[in-house]
Amino acid sequence: MSGPVDPEDSGTYDGLATQLAAELPVWLPTQRWFAGKDRPITAVRPLSWTTVLDGDPLLLHLVVEVDQGDRTERYQLLIGSRRSQVPDVSASASIGLEAGLTCYEASGDADLTTVLLDLMAEGASIGDLSFESEPGAELATGLRAHPITSEQSNTSLVYGTQYILKLFRKLTPGLNKDLHLHRALREVGCEHVADPLGSISGTIGGETVTIGMLQRFMHDAVDGWVMATTSVRDLMADPTLPLEELGGDFAGEASRLGAAVATVHADLRTALGVEDADAAELERTVTTMLERLDRVAADVPELAQHVPGLRAAFEAVRHTPVPVEMQYVHGDLHLGQVLRTLQGWLLLDFEGEPAASLAERSKLRSVLRDVAGMLRSFDYAAQQHLVGHPADPALTERAMSWARRNRDAFCEGYAGVAGTDPRDSGDLLRALELDKAVYEVSYEHANRPDWLTVPLSSIARLMTEANQHD
Ligand SMILES: Nc1ncnc2c1ncn2[C@@H]1O[C@H](COP(=O)(O)OP(=O)(O)O)[C@@H](O)[C@H]1O
Ligand SMILES: [Mg+2]
Repeated sequence: MSGPVDPEDSGTYDGLATQLAAELPVWLPTQRWFAGKDRPITAVRPLSWTTVLDGDPLLLHLVVEVDQGDRTERYQLLIGSRRSQVPDVSASASIGLEAGLTCYEASGDADLTTVLLDLMAEGASIGDLSFESEPGAELATGLRAHPITSEQSNTSLVYGTQYILKLFRKLTPGLNKDLHLHRALREVGCEHVADPLGSISGTIGGETVTIGMLQRFMHDAVDGWVMATTSVRDLMADPTLPLEELGGDFAGEASRLGAAVATVHADLRTALGVEDADAAELERTVTTMLERLDRVAADVPELAQHVPGLRAAFEAVRHTPVPVEMQYVHGDLHLGQVLRTLQGWLLLDFEGEPAASLAERSKLRSVLRDVAGMLRSFDYAAQQHLVGHPADPALTERAMSWARRNRDAFCEGYAGVAGTDPRDSGDLLRALELDKAVYEVSYEHANRPDWLTVPLSSIARLMTEANQHD
């Protein structure tokens, strides 16, 4: 921090908020959840701050506005501060240190975060923040929380073995889509989501914003990505065994997962309805896909040989019979967003594509987008053990058979509930898969060049399969 805290500040902490904001241009880019790592920060301003716990320790809820050139985003922070007895929070949480006072990101301080659950149980309001439990939810209080370690774009705190509170890091105006869809699904009795139990919202810059969502925590659950990649590892360990005889065969699970996704789609339709997309809407989809292709091809030379084929695949969407049904979908579905509990599969995290704008995320979509996301994820799971190893045709073939088997099982499970097989909508599903793969090419090119072969080989395969059908 740039200066000592003004004792006159007590209770409002205006000076502290300003001092913290001054530290943040350096600190924010070190945080995993910070979404703006692509550009330098040009300014950080405190926008609103609320004293959740006053005294020593202090818990301050801070919302800052972060400028990065012409882009401005809002982020929330939980700030802890103590004069003595600094808790065992990680070094990266420390934001500033002055004589006798430490400020840190407080999501790792269980003494402080316990209060958030208690406030939701009470239905409390503090300043511009409102803490609520969902209708009918009876929340236990006094539980200590720890942050989950698999943190991605947000920060989630697990209370005891019962609850998980997701704090949305990047704040967008209005009701958050994750909370909106979880509530809608609970209303229609959906069995494939974790019940929403509470929420925190705020009035920030004159707008209502969702800050957090509390859900039932599934302590017995296993991540879909972990299960799928374990199955692939088993397969690689004994390449002589037929796939269906493997102890770790995943096809039964993939089929049940397909059925769960189809059920969630049907429940979203029941809860929130459908709209028809006409030819003009399809044309916009085609334009978006072609624009992405041009952008990525300009950056990634390895994509050049596939550009004519990709262009043709996207243009083929124009011949999809209209109207096409559009509805709320998950929007960012992959094996890391599903959990296998003892009872069955759950879908998590309905916020939509992290990189998309709010307007994009709230658009109604074809359910095939989610199917395409999951099909891509099977390819990733199959190939992840091959990344960084010299090409081994036998192992590559095994990985491809695993992906084929599980992609088919997923679609069959989906068809069993939906009544139609996603593979029958050929051109649209294929274009959505390829569009996703083009996005992956740009992501891998920028972040993990070793992985570029995964989406590129999928694109090559999808092209060859199409030629075989022609
Ligand atoms: N209800 C839950 N029960 C058990 N684990 C959960 C639950 N919700 C989320 N998780 C775990 O937390 C991780 C992150 O949750 P997610 O909602 O996907 O947040 P993010 O927006 O940060 O990606 C998940 O991958 C999962 O491992
Ligand atoms: Mg997630």
